Amino acid sequence: MALSHDVRSQPAEIRIEPMTPGDLPGVLAIERRSFPTPWSERAFVSELRDNLYADYIVARHGDRVVGYAGMWCILDEAHVTTIAVDPEFRGRGVGDRLLTALEQRALRYGCRRMTLEVRVSNHVAQRLYRRHGFRPCGIRRGYYVDNGEDAIVMWRDRLDPPGPVVTEEPGAEGARGAAAADGLEATDGVASSGVDSTSASAAGASGAAGGSEAP
Ligand SMILES: CC(C)(COP(=O)(O)OP(=O)(O)OC[C@H]1O[C@@H](n2cnc3c(N)ncnc32)[C@H](O)[C@@H]1OP(=O)(O)O)[C@@H](O)C(=O)NCCC(=O)NCCS
Repeated sequence: MALSHDVRSQPAEIRIEPMTPGDLPGVLAIERRSFPTPWSERAFVSELRDNLYADYIVARHGDRVVGYAGMWCILDEAHVTTIAVDPEFRGRGVGDRLLTALEQRALRYGCRRMTLEVRVSNHVAQRLYRRHGFRPCGIRRGYYVDNGEDAIVMWRDRLDPPGPVVTEEPGAEGARGAAAADGLEATDGVASSGVDSTSASAAGASGAAGGSEAP
């Protein structure tokens, strides 16, 4: 659906706040529109209620949840488990705001590095991550259980300062993504979770998504 003029002209009205159980209907609606094998409500409840290492946030426009993101912070490493934006609000900097907020929160929790997995085909997300200083460091072969797609493992080594750190030429992502996928060493697929909520490991770790996805 096309963005309304009202939404396009007022991106500053987006607020970033901690996710609460009351946000889950909005979160799940976006989740189902964003991932081929979405996390279940139980998976999110488990993350919010039981996982002491987990931190989840939402982006709000008025009362409406328009995006969300989450991570696990363990010692000095933060692992992004998911990030998604309502299709009606994409391309307006909401994903950028969410990732910056995760970086800021991770720094406060004492993390110095951040990692995530992303589908080889997901060039929009890769572009966002590269702009935030993430670099491809490996490949997890067949990481996504829905179609056997490979994941690119990306790391950002220095979280300070948070936010976008790299300016890239428009249109270069496709070639970079393919090069990254081709030129990297394969890993063994034992990630604790993944940014595309389709990863088997993230689903297993959260104990509810039934062998499907994470971002
Ligand atoms: C990835 C995602 C979270 C980005 O959210 P977003 O709010 O659209 O991101 P932003 O508006 O902050 O844009 C981030 C970058 O992607 C680019 N981008 C956004 N939408 C795009 C589109 N449809 N086509 C091309 N580029 C796009 C922006 O131009 C921006 O690049 P720039 O910073 O160099 O200008 C969103 O596309 C999404 O929810 N996708 C589905 C779920 C998903 O794939 N999650 C990530 C799994 S690893």
